[in-house]
Amino acid sequence: MNITTTGPKGLPISGNLMAFRRSPLQFIREAAEEHGEVVHFRFGPSRHIYLLTNPDHIKEVLVSKQAHFRKGKGLQVARAVVGDGILTSEGKKHLRQRRLMQPAFHRDRIATYGDVMVRQAVDLMSDWKTGELRDIHSDMMKVTLAIITETMFGKTVKEGADQIGHAIDVGLKYVANKGSSFIDIPLSVPTKSNREFLESSELLDKTIYSLIEARRNSEGEEHKDLLGMLLAARDEDDGEGMTDEQVRDEVMTIFVAGHETTANTMSWIFYLLATHPEVEKKLHDELSTVLCDKLPTVEDLPQLKYTNLIVQETLRLYPAAWTINREVVDEVEIGGHTYKPGETLMMSQYVMHRDPRYYEQAEEFIPERFDSDLLKRNPAYAYFPFGGGPRVCIGNNFALMEAALLLATIAQRYRLRLAEPNQTVEPEPLVTLRPKNGLPMRLEKR
Ligand code: HEM
Repeated sequence: MNITTTGPKGLPISGNLMAFRRSPLQFIREAAEEHGEVVHFRFGPSRHIYLLTNPDHIKEVLVSKQAHFRKGKGLQVARAVVGDGILTSEGKKHLRQRRLMQPAFHRDRIATYGDVMVRQAVDLMSDWKTGELRDIHSDMMKVTLAIITETMFGKTVKEGADQIGHAIDVGLKYVANKGSSFIDIPLSVPTKSNREFLESSELLDKTIYSLIEARRNSEGEEHKDLLGMLLAARDEDDGEGMTDEQVRDEVMTIFVAGHETTANTMSWIFYLLATHPEVEKKLHDELSTVLCDKLPTVEDLPQLKYTNLIVQETLRLYPAAWTINREVVDEVEIGGHTYKPGETLMMSQYVMHRDPRYYEQAEEFIPERFDSDLLKRNPAYAYFPFGGGPRVCIGNNFALMEAALLLATIAQRYRLRLAEPNQTVEPEPLVTLRPKNGLPMRLEKR
């Protein structure tokens, strides 16, 4: 038996594609408000999408019935950059890679990267001047890239970091454009963007493979960075490690998955602080009391409670991963509806995190709400900024630590003001949820 599903009316051929593209966030929120827990819509004549807004159904997709699904179509485009790393691989291959990589992201392990995060934040501010107008979003992209580069390769590539950064930028832009483009031009056609992409990939591959080779030839030396961990990882069952190609794919995966997401989160934090002076004041009080002017460290994080609440609440209102999509592989029943192979299920953090069933004053920025039993009271998948189940974000602890340390280090020294007092910043839902047109802000030394 199938429950009846409804959804927004679409056009005869393109279905709801145009309306979705025009304003994805508005489209899915309105659809959810109007059509309940399972919303059906269509992209083109035959692509059926179901938006799920019951947290228990979301849990079934991501956890208990996850074997019936694979990653959505959008992510397949990312393969051009990240190859077959853990973000894009499926089934047994994913499981093996995940097992190999998990230890590198263990909480104790990543705690050793705290100093890099704080030092890079201090470096970023070294050319900041009070009164200056800056695009804080591009600063956040710069600092998170510098952090992931140093935690990945150690200090060995300081000179090459800019080059790597540029090449990754080109790769990410290419994926974002291709993902949202109507026409699929194969890579073999020498368009300007294809040529640029291929050149930068070649450069990146050369750099990464030469770093891998240098490491493989330096046996005996212990390297505590992520690359060292990836090269040392061995499978419990067969004792095998990763091939060079696999290491390359995982390095790229971590760059892609772990750079822009955190940068966006930081931008949204500074936007929300600038528009909520009472929250900013409480943050400043906490930083003064806990840190007394010294730079933050990982050991300070448990005491920086309000700082952490701000990160949590920002990930609620502006979840960098705004939707998780899955494609049905084997027919599966969820909540009284049978989904067929080829159909897409969409689970949106942006929709769920602003749902008044689970959050009072859902549109308001109130970090204190997480200083309660809210997460226990609500169903598990009413808040899932890092996804869930076997594909939950492997970098979640890394990201939370990085966001709290960057926030503490920067807010200790600067107050960031909006360039225009009443300026609103629109979220732009590309691969990640970023501030549309950047985030121009004025620096004020504290
Ligand atoms: C605020 C920052 C971040 C957010 C919101 C975020 C969110 C997510 C989400 C929602 C997923 C699951 C996607 C899905 O199931 O389809 C994911 C996967 C992943 N994330 Fe993150 N992420 C963040 C930061 C990071 C960082 C810093 C790293 C690495 C250093 C990272 C590495 C990964 C990887 C490798 C995966 C794929 C895991 C797998 O499929 O097994 N992420 N992330």
